[in-house]
Amino acid sequence: MNLGVAALLMLAGCGDRDADTGLCDRTPPLTYEGFGVGFMDKHCTACHSSLLREEQRNDAPVGIDMDSYVEVMRFAERIEARVVTPEVPTMPPGGGPTAEEIAQLNEWLACKVYPDAAIWFAEEGE
Ligand code: HEC
Repeated sequence: MNLGVAALLMLAGCGDRDADTGLCDRTPPLTYEGFGVGFMDKHCTACHSSLLREEQRNDAPVGIDMDSYVEVMRFAERIEARVVTPEVPTMPPGGGPTAEEIAQLNEWLACKVYPDAAIWFAEEGE
């Protein structure tokens, strides 16, 4: 076996799901400033913003807000469960994000938001 193939097999064997799929190969990775804030403002913060009064939220629960990176990190699993995982997304209620936007959301959550959240909430002691 030549060394190049051996090195590739070792890389493939490292067991990191995202490394295996190449999902996180983009450098630099998608960021809140470069992708997230635009996505959230376009699709989510009309109802989920800390700047909205209760009667302005179209029944979105008070406290479920998407207008800061900390909130997005806090709700990352719920964002994934409502937008990325279902065959037909259940947020926003009327739909809207394109397949490409959802793919980028999935990439951003997996490659940046979850890793950042692990550090952030570990430091906060949660
Ligand atoms: C038109 C208003 C509106 C928009 C836009 C909207 N939501 Fe919601 N959201 C709601 C309402 C109403 C509820 C409560 C009912 C429910 O959970 O389906 C809710 C609940 C939620 C919850 C809490 C319930 C749970 O499953 O944990 C999350 C998380 C959420 N939305 C995420 C999002 C995300 C992410 C976006 C943008 C992609 C978004 N929403 C866009 C109205 C909205």
